[in-house]
Amino acid sequence: EYPIKRQLITEQLIEPWIPHRTANSHKGTYGRVRCIAGSADYMGAGLLAATASLHIGAGLVYWDAPEELRRYFNGQTPELIFRGYASEGGTFSPDSADALVDAANDAKAVVVGCGVDDFTGSLHWMEKLVTGITCPLIIDASAFVMLKKQLDILLTRKGVTVVTPHPGEIAKVLKISVAQLESKRIYYAEQFAKRYHVTIILKGAHTIIATPEGNTYINTTGSHVLAKAGTGDVLAGFIGGLAAQGVSLEMAACVAVYIHGKAAEQLAETTYVSTMASDVSRTAGAILHKIAH
Ligand code: APR
Ligand code: MG
Repeated sequence: EYPIKRQLITEQLIEPWIPHRTANSHKGTYGRVRCIAGSADYMGAGLLAATASLHIGAGLVYWDAPEELRRYFNGQTPELIFRGYASEGGTFSPDSADALVDAANDAKAVVVGCGVDDFTGSLHWMEKLVTGITCPLIIDASAFVMLKKQLDILLTRKGVTVVTPHPGEIAKVLKISVAQLESKRIYYAEQFAKRYHVTIILKGAHTIIATPEGNTYINTTGSHVLAKAGTGDVLAGFIGGLAAQGVSLEMAACVAVYIHGKAAEQLAETTYVSTMASDVSRTAGAILHKIAH
């Protein structure tokens, strides 16, 4: 047992962790992200996550996707590097795991799961990624839900991990109802972080972050404009992009959640209901600049 420290995520808390840009720098200075994401049905989720890593300042971002997606990529976000992997029916095939782990070797952060459709053999595929990848790993959406039959796989990680479920995803994994989860969201987040040695971001209005060391953070920013498809993918990309710039995964989670919410608040005043996830992504830089200067 250890004491749990609970605090709010404020501008004051995150300001010291915003990565500095220097004149004498190059793309290698700001780190390399690999984003293992997307499927034929959810191609946009992969694009949004990888693009968000660039928007938050990463130097170089690879979008690792099922090979079949190459023809749809079409140079949207031309700054991304596309790599195709063994696929079947528009999603990753289990055969892609070893190549994905190899590719992750040169990354400073890896994001996995945004828009990945579940497939036969996915649990073993995730086991290979979780045990083989050594850099900070962000596990989002279905990649997290895939682990539900064997959550102890998370204990085999050699690096730090953050999981980013929305209430429906964590409820599925814990086999409880969303209502039960929501009635004690801080409790469930803290228990999960401690039990599986991962930082968990439990999303929704008033996002909670809980770390295995017993630090709990409650976000103070956000807006209803985030209640639209794709915003979760952008958040995952932000975390990867910050971790690639050398921010600890714990503080990358805090900075990402705060900036994501703050960008949404600003957009709620201008584009209101028309705000899209990609607008939130694009607004990150202006928010960072305002806070850091
Ligand atoms: N107030 C503040 N923040 C909100 C609100 C709200 N009312 N509603 C949503 N958010 C924030 C959440 O905190 C989170 O950061 O928006 C984001 C939504 O993330 P997700 O629920 O993961 O949604 P998203 O990933 O964009 O879309 C659905 O997730 O279920 C999976 O793979 C599935 O592709 C699908 C995707
Ligand atoms: Mg999501």
